[in-house]
Amino acid sequence: MSKQIKTDSGNLLGIPATDKNVISEHLNQLLADQHVLYIKMRNFHWNLVGPSFVEVHEFIEKLYNLIALQIDEVAERIQQLGYAAAGSMSEFLKRAQLKESSGGKKEQTFAVKELAEDSDTMARNMRKMIGDITEGYDDPGTVDILTKLLQTQEKNAWMLRRYLG
Ligand SMILES: [Fe+2]
Repeated sequence: MSKQIKTDSGNLLGIPATDKNVISEHLNQLLADQHVLYIKMRNFHWNLVGPSFVEVHEFIEKLYNLIALQIDEVAERIQQLGYAAAGSMSEFLKRAQLKESSGGKKEQTFAVKELAEDSDTMARNMRKMIGDITEGYDDPGTVDILTKLLQTQEKNAWMLRRYLG
């Protein structure tokens, strides 16, 4: 696990410093997975092949535009907690749980299945994070952000699975 960089000290937001450290670590982990998923979606959007190319290509574009907005929310929440958001591909890869996919032709069923599984993994991780923060720390602001992101992730996972029959 990478060491976190603190950007502010003191009792910011009324949340104890040790709590903010743990919560920011969770959020940096999420930020890393979001970036891996974002790049994978761009990759699949470009390299997709299959009979429903236009539809899946456009749907994946919608998904990566959504993730781009979510990335910003998570990174800015980390700043609000007084820590630095990870910012390089090497930092993201060190922290991420999701696996990258190299370029090259991606058959549409493979691509959709992979994105559905990653969305499920993201949703499971977010749910666990929400549980940990709710039980251990007093930070409903972060929990609220994560809950909204989770709802979107669950919807994406459902829509992706529908392509698979
Ligand atoms: Fe495009």
